[in-house]
Amino acid sequence: MEFKRSIIITGGAGFIGSHVVRLFVNKYPEYRIINLDKLTYAGNLANLKDIEDKPNYRFVKMDICDFEGVLKLMQEEKVDGIIHLAAESHVDRSIKDPFTFAQTNVMGTLSMLQAAKAAWDGNWEGKRFYHISTDEVYGALEMTHPEGIEPPFITKASSGTHHLAYGEKFFTEDLKYQPHSPYSAAKASSDHFVRAFHDTFGMPTIVTNCSNNYGPYQFPEKLIPLFINNIRHRKPLPVYGKGENVRDWLFVEDHARAIDIIFHNGKVAETYNIGGFNEWKNIDIIKVLINTVDRLLGRPEGADMDLITYVTDRAGHDLRYAIDSSKLQRELGWEPSLQFEEGIERTVRWYLDNQAWLDNVTSGDYQKYYESMYKGR
Ligand code: NAD
Ligand code: TYD
Repeated sequence: MEFKRSIIITGGAGFIGSHVVRLFVNKYPEYRIINLDKLTYAGNLANLKDIEDKPNYRFVKMDICDFEGVLKLMQEEKVDGIIHLAAESHVDRSIKDPFTFAQTNVMGTLSMLQAAKAAWDGNWEGKRFYHISTDEVYGALEMTHPEGIEPPFITKASSGTHHLAYGEKFFTEDLKYQPHSPYSAAKASSDHFVRAFHDTFGMPTIVTNCSNNYGPYQFPEKLIPLFINNIRHRKPLPVYGKGENVRDWLFVEDHARAIDIIFHNGKVAETYNIGGFNEWKNIDIIKVLINTVDRLLGRPEGADMDLITYVTDRAGHDLRYAIDSSKLQRELGWEPSLQFEEGIERTVRWYLDNQAWLDNVTSGDYQKYYESMYKGR
């Protein structure tokens, strides 16, 4: 079968990647969608069971650092688009093992760029290299508030959206990079390489920086799935520091929808920030999670509040992330579709209904790693 386009999605077996692969495979039967993934601890093909037999889908187990392999695949499949999500993504792991983050996020991205450059050989017409990055590259924002007004306070973005905020400054696309963790430093470096390939060779690249995602299929080392699982099993909830850090949360399907719009309509060489205008203190989210899990399991609401366990803070823990996604809203018409309350309800229900998925990923080697990571906390 002749396909209209042929697209490699890297990291398609991971959390966000699986939602992007699903969206593209279902929405564009005329596109060939190749999921290129090494299947690290975070890659799980069970995330894609519902689409694995579709005729326009192909999975290839490959390391993004494998230049020769990626080049051959690109030539074989006549690839004209790359949506690059594969990365090491967990800050705590990056503190323990920065080398792996540099290898995958920096060298892996460079290797993908080199392979695309070799495959496309200067013929950029109809080509696109789209790199998915994080808001963490901008560093941390302060918690400030107008005199006499206590946070969270209502503020207005340049797009006109009103929302609650814990500070007066936001991450905009023109902000300088100030990464603090080895994870965000490696992502920042990969973003620079992508832009350098546009500026030096003319490769049609796009970079987007998104805030914290939540939703189904997230590996349970990240706050939301980890805590849902722990509440269900009445295990302690390790809250770093005082739980005062603020994150901006976006439902993962809204991120996937933004990626679709930007891949097709985004302007080459541009950067777009993607966020939910949805700031929450960790401790407040944790209380929502406890109340929601308890209610859905028929326990008295709040019965599990005593699971909250304050532990040593994460080293270099960024205080506040807050994305201003006005540019994307203004130029490409995207905005988040889900209210947080609805997204969290759907997410908690999904994890409670998919205990087998959770058991599968929390067993074996991962469990051993998990135990060593939290020893002494
Ligand atoms: P994830 O850890 O759930 O998945 C990463 C995927 O990449 C896995 O399937 C893994 O097997 C694969 N992978 C890792 N190393 C690889 C390699 N060397 N070769 C091929 N495949 C490899 O990550 P995620 O949370 O889905 O994040 C995806 C991307 O989105 C990352 O680039 C991350 O920086 C970015 N991002 C994530 C968030 C978030 O909240 N999760 C927010 C903004 C941006
Ligand atoms: P995480 O999901 O790891 O995402 P990120 O570090 O990329 O923002 O963490 C979200 C927030 O929750 C962050 O401020 C750290 C905090 N956190 C805890 O307090 N305890 C935990 O066990 C985890 C995993 C995170």
